[in-house]
Amino acid sequence: MIPQSFIQDLLNRVDIVDVVGRYVPMKKGGANFMGLCPFHNEKSPSFTVSPTKQFYHCFGCGAHGTAIGFLIEYSGLGFVEAVKDLAQGVGMVVPESDDKMPPAQRAEHQAKSLALTEAMTRACDYYRLELRTAERAKNYLIGRGLTGEIAARFGIGYSPDGWDSLRTVFPDYDASALVEAGLVIDRTDEEGSNRKRYDRFRDRIMFPIRNTKGQVIGFGGRILDNGEPKYLNSPETPLFQKGNELYGLFEARQAIRDAGYVLVTEGYMDVVALAQLGFPQVVATLGTACTATHVQKLSRQTDHVIFSFDGDRAGRKAARRALEASLPYAADNKTIKFLFLPSEHDPDSYVREHGTAGFEQQVQDAMPLSQFLLKEVAGDNDLSTSEGRAKVQFDAKPLLQAMPASSLRLQIVRGLAQLTQGTPTEIESLFELSNPVGRSRAAPPRSKRTPPVGLELQVMRLLVAHPALAMELDDDALKAMVHFVPDNAAMLTQLVSAGRQMGEHASFATLSEHLRASGQDFDSMIAEIAAEPESDRDTARLELAGAVRQTKMKVLKAEQERLAAGGMKQPEELMRYRELSLKQEQLRREAEDEIARR
Ligand code: CTP
Ligand code: MN
Repeated sequence: MIPQSFIQDLLNRVDIVDVVGRYVPMKKGGANFMGLCPFHNEKSPSFTVSPTKQFYHCFGCGAHGTAIGFLIEYSGLGFVEAVKDLAQGVGMVVPESDDKMPPAQRAEHQAKSLALTEAMTRACDYYRLELRTAERAKNYLIGRGLTGEIAARFGIGYSPDGWDSLRTVFPDYDASALVEAGLVIDRTDEEGSNRKRYDRFRDRIMFPIRNTKGQVIGFGGRILDNGEPKYLNSPETPLFQKGNELYGLFEARQAIRDAGYVLVTEGYMDVVALAQLGFPQVVATLGTACTATHVQKLSRQTDHVIFSFDGDRAGRKAARRALEASLPYAADNKTIKFLFLPSEHDPDSYVREHGTAGFEQQVQDAMPLSQFLLKEVAGDNDLSTSEGRAKVQFDAKPLLQAMPASSLRLQIVRGLAQLTQGTPTEIESLFELSNPVGRSRAAPPRSKRTPPVGLELQVMRLLVAHPALAMELDDDALKAMVHFVPDNAAMLTQLVSAGRQMGEHASFATLSEHLRASGQDFDSMIAEIAAEPESDRDTARLELAGAVRQTKMKVLKAEQERLAAGGMKQPEELMRYRELSLKQEQLRREAEDEIARR
């Protein structure tokens, strides 16, 4: 059993738009993304993915679910496999067993991860505010050609030149979350006692690094002068693994869809400069080599990736690494290209010197993967000798083996055959290239159910759509409802306790997974809510309060009717009757107040 808290964490971390986007081409339409449903045949799109609900829903066939549900139904993975697949993509490790982690520890774990995110957000807001009054930092950015607009879009800030500036926004400067988030450094003196804590980032331009949901998970800080290190990055934390993250991906997502391709650069400044000068579809690998995780993340966004490298030797080496990372993803419907700038340039300096049109020309001239691969393996080998040609084949073998069987691979094999005076068949058998069989998938059967009715079902729907509201439901309200709807009491109680257990960050998506695991049949309700436009929590809160009041009224009235039917011969009975009237009056007044407040 994977703990529910982990599922909840996971669903809060992954973005369903990325997950579905890996398999289904989608366009933004209003608040949602739309595409052709992968679960039934259709010509016009009725399949929608809601980034706010973190849920997909097809108006054609009724398919619906979370990111986990999508993977299960689309790729035929089991629940655990799907969870593992998603977790890997966001750098989370699936805990082995439910019973190994006691609930208290699990809750602590969850609270910790929340505290880290909150600390990062607060620090980011602080750095941004500081930039407003930091003339030297502003002048630096202006000197590098940045506009205020672009600085705001990327949330660029400034960390002041003091040892503990963060104290201003973290009154509890000793909190462990600060060191775990990498915002401060603890230094102990020789005796190992006397801990000294100080800000990691001082007097630096701050680039917040966001995950695809927009949460700040790390920072890159650039020095203003020529000191060392030029860039200081957040250390690896539970939120931030440098090798998995792409700077600018959150900001670039829509632009990548619009442009139909993504540009991959190496640095923060490259991203902001290109974004400012007409290429918002740009990300950076944070100065690390391009990894398979990077390419996987990118291929979830688009089928067309263009890597940009400096023309020097280091750039060449980086391009080679990117090539290797890309090969497993080089399918026929993907385009991967490599762009080499003149050696004195990086994208930032190039676009500033040659302008948008100049860089656009570079994009046009980018080298396709097949050509780059052949160029790489040819290297300095002497093709006029048998030894030279054999060496080329030797070098090419692992690269071709890393590619999926495709017509593109065959094209490269043909090119290689020509280059080395062989035949494609020879090369294929020499390289032991095989043809993996694709996995087939089928749409799951779906059933249609009748929609729910009644006050108690209205309450349940509100609690499913906004489970965190369960925490605001007092026990009196719950008792009244359970009293009134004995048939649905179990379902209602279950919803309330699930919502309370999941806490403030419970969402429609996380509750849906929870309910599915618990086996109760809320599916038709979930399907309906998935199909509806998103309701906001404040409205839902008012609706819930209204429904609770109505329920309480009904309970009070029912008791009055019982008393009246009995004739009310005892004085206590009369008193109780009046009391019940007063209570109703009170509820009515509450309702009026609420309406007046709106
Ligand atoms: N980098 C880093 N730590 C360093 C140097 C570089 O993390 N000490 C990373 C940064 O992400 C940086 C990228 O590598 O953006 C590229 O480095 P470099 O080419 O040296 O910097 P530029 O991006 O060109 O930065 P600038 O234009 O500000 O000099
Ligand atoms: Mn630069």
